[in-house]
Amino acid sequence: MDIFEEIKMKGFHDEYIDPSLDLFAEIEKLKKEKNAVVLAHYYQEGDIQDIADYIGDSLGLSQQAAKTDADVIVFAGVHFMAETAKILSPNKKVLLPDLKAGCSLADSCPPHLFKKFKEQYPDHLVITYVNCTAELKALSDIVCTSSNAVQIVESLPPEQKIIFGPDRNLGAWVAKKTGRDLVLWNGACMVHEIFSREKITKLKERYPAAKILAHPECEQVILELADYIGSTTGILKYATSSPETEFIVATESGIIHQMEKDNPGKKFIPAPPNNTCACNDCPHMKRNTLEKLYLCMKNEMPEVTVPGHIIERAVKPIERMLEISARLGL
Ligand code: 13P
Ligand code: SF4
Repeated sequence: MDIFEEIKMKGFHDEYIDPSLDLFAEIEKLKKEKNAVVLAHYYQEGDIQDIADYIGDSLGLSQQAAKTDADVIVFAGVHFMAETAKILSPNKKVLLPDLKAGCSLADSCPPHLFKKFKEQYPDHLVITYVNCTAELKALSDIVCTSSNAVQIVESLPPEQKIIFGPDRNLGAWVAKKTGRDLVLWNGACMVHEIFSREKITKLKERYPAAKILAHPECEQVILELADYIGSTTGILKYATSSPETEFIVATESGIIHQMEKDNPGKKFIPAPPNNTCACNDCPHMKRNTLEKLYLCMKNEMPEVTVPGHIIERAVKPIERMLEISARLGL
């Protein structure tokens, strides 16, 4: 890697920031100066969620990226999310505070292997979860997120054969909910596979009234315990509309910031991980910091780019997802 590549990867993260600088005010100033919009996922640290123009789950963020009239999209999330924004808005500049903010789930499905896998099922339609690389999306027929996967599968004729990737847990949950026989790619998210059924059961004994909320990327043994299963937005809405006051939350812990803000007085307890992990933080999501967000806006780098030939093929399955979601009011 040459020095320029290195600087691009770092995105000037090592640049000195005057500690007396009010980063919130500076970021607001940069938003106006550059006509930039900050889109943040619920798994980002609290400060980033608070400075964002829009906070959401993967579906909401894609919808925002498709319709924004800003010149610059600053994506406080991970690489595949920024790529999706670039595919939907190829003429806009898309910035990611830390280019190394990847995703274990996207990494669990290398496109060259998926292509071979797909060739074994020539009469199958390919649905891929948005948590995958742009190259993988280019090999797909429809993209989905955790908040519309069930409805997208249900929108297809019952006789339609389907490959679902890359998340085996989400795929198994969708297959169960729809009664469809899906061919699954064997991928998973490192964060959602660390929860301990035994520890959650013990926690539930301490908080017997608590409702267990889980993301469908969790394993079946965890989902079996859940009172509600859904995307991050689904989990937040459920907790807000529920008359209950205690919740055990089986997903990345960043969502708890918004749950607490929207629901003062309710108690949110992160579901305990197994002994291999100390917390439920996604190490990729948490690479972004307020400082890196500020520097990336100031220097307009690191920028996320996607080759034109990939954009051409990847945009169709994403637009198909957005069309189906709009039709169903999702
Ligand atoms: P949602 O935002 O669709 O709930 O997905 C969670 C996730 O793992 C994002 O990386
Ligand atoms: Fe990827 Fe899992 Fe992190 Fe989401 S939580 S970005 S799926 S590793």
